[in-house]
Parts: sequence; C-alpha cells; structure tokens
Amino acid sequence: MSTTLPTPRRQSTTGDVYESFCEGIRSLTGIDLSQYKRAQMERRIKTFAERRGTPDLMAYLAELKGSPEEREAFLDRVTINVSQLWRNPEQWAVIADKILPELAENGRIRAWSAGCSYGAEAYTLAALCARQAEKTPRLRAEIAGTDIDPRMVDKAREGRFSAADARDAKRPDLEKAFIREADGGWLAKPELKKMTRFSAGDLLRMRTQKDAYDLVLCRNTVIYFNEEVRDALHARLVECVRPGGYLVIGSTERVANAASLGLKSTHPFTYRKNEA
Ligand SMILES: C[S@@+](CC[C@H](N)C(=O)[O-])C[C@H]1O[C@@H](n2cnc3c(N)ncnc32)[C@H](O)[C@@H]1O
Repeated sequence: MSTTLPTPRRQSTTGDVYESFCEGIRSLTGIDLSQYKRAQMERRIKTFAERRGTPDLMAYLAELKGSPEEREAFLDRVTINVSQLWRNPEQWAVIADKILPELAENGRIRAWSAGCSYGAEAYTLAALCARQAEKTPRLRAEIAGTDIDPRMVDKAREGRFSAADARDAKRPDLEKAFIREADGGWLAKPELKKMTRFSAGDLLRMRTQKDAYDLVLCRNTVIYFNEEVRDALHARLVECVRPGGYLVIGSTERVANAASLGLKSTHPFTYRKNEA
C-alpha cells in the first residue's frame, strides 16, 4: 500500500461550489477540506453557514476572509476537538497492562499522540507512564502531541482539564497525576508536563521520521477522512513505528490491510509492528 498521500485538489474545474469553497479555505487556513469525507463535511459546513446567516458558501467564504472571529467559530465546527481524559477506559487498560510494561523493558518509551486535540490523550498516557516508572526505575517517557489546530496545541501545553473532561477517569488515578483546581477541574502535575511536548502539524503533510516511535496513538481522528486518505495515513503512521512497537487506533476504527503493512492485531484496536 502506498504511503503517499493524495495530492490536494487545486482549483475546481467543474464549477463545483463546494470544491471552490474548499480551495478558498485551503488558501486561507492551510486546512485541506477535500481530504475529509465529502458528504459529512459538506453537510456540516452548509448547516453551519446557514445558521450563521450566510447560506451561500462563496459569500460565507468572503465573510471568513474578513473576520478572524468567524474563522475561529468555523474552525471549531470543522475540526471537532472532542476529547477527554481516559477516553475509552478499556483501551487504556490494555495500554497500561500489556503495552507499556513490554515497551518499558527498553528503559525508554517514545510515543506520539497524532491528532491530540487539547492533550487529554497525551496526558493520560503520561500518567500511565509515570505509574509504569514506579515499577521500572529510570524509565524515560517522551510523548509528542500534534494537532492541526494551533489553538488546541496552546491549550494542550497548559495541561488543564475540566471536571467534564475527567468524567471517565478514576478518582485515585486523577489525584495521583493531576492537581485539583478550585473550579473542580484538573491541572497536570509538572512531572507529566516534563514528559510531553506539543506542536501544530497537519498529519497529511507534516514531515515524519521512520521508526521514530515505540507507540503511536491515532484515535478518533481518521474517522473524518475519506478512505483513500485514511489508508494512506495509516500506512504513513506505521512507518513511524519501530519494529516491535505499537499503533493504537480508535475503538470504532480499523486499519485496512493491516497484514500487508506488517502489522499484527493484538487487540481489536492495537497493532504490533512485525520485527524484521
Ligand atoms: C476528535 S479529536 C481526537 C482527540 C484524541 N485523539 C482523542 O481520541 O480523544 C480529533 C482531532 O484531530 C485533529 N485533526 C483533524 N484533522 C487533522 C489533520 N489533518 N492533522 C492533524 N490533526 C487533525 C482535530 O483538530 C481534532 O483535535
């Protein structure tokens, strides 16, 4: 399977208003909407434009060009940043009990939260690495988080989460790794912050490094991409996992042709990359 991502469409030659709108958004924000599932994204954008009082897409594009506030609201709508601490706890149980103990044997865990939103996934992983370090002294964990939305990346650097973000987390786990705030929210302890670093980047375009990670998490991010883009992205992520390392995807997702990418499924949502 090719790891080359499809080339973005430049100009609508068909007079397709949605394509022209996508091209305008790409020039304005750098986000390439044509890589996302069209029916879903088009519906979402049209409904939003209508609700904002400008149902004509090209007129709405002009409005977005003139108003940074409207651009903010629009990006909130299209990039869907929903996340939470310990999201899908059954996945975290597998990561904590099976994957981290195995990876810790090397004394170092290099992980990537790809499509990290405001950091809940990266900090949950950091909390579990801190717990693993109690059993594996001198364990070093380095967790990179990247997201296309720079506002989410800024928020992730703060490491601050609301009570709602923590709704699926167990109280003792939270108290160990986070500081309770006056408003009922949770702030990541400095030891977690030391393990994490966040940067903005488009998964479809950013430079990646072969075999750079022991663990790559890409959960609830590819669901918005069309299948061609999703499969090429998965192949690209697999290249970044070192042999013997893991790729973890969302609980409702799948990697097409996992075997041909050199992956063995160890649980419904975790894959181990074959050793050479
Ligand atoms: C639903 S959140 C998932 C967050 C986290 N992985 C989780 O499962 O809780 C999806 C994130 O993917 C990001 N995203 C969407 N397209 C992206 C792209 N092309 N490159 C990087 N991030 C992207 C969005 O900005 C959003 O923050």
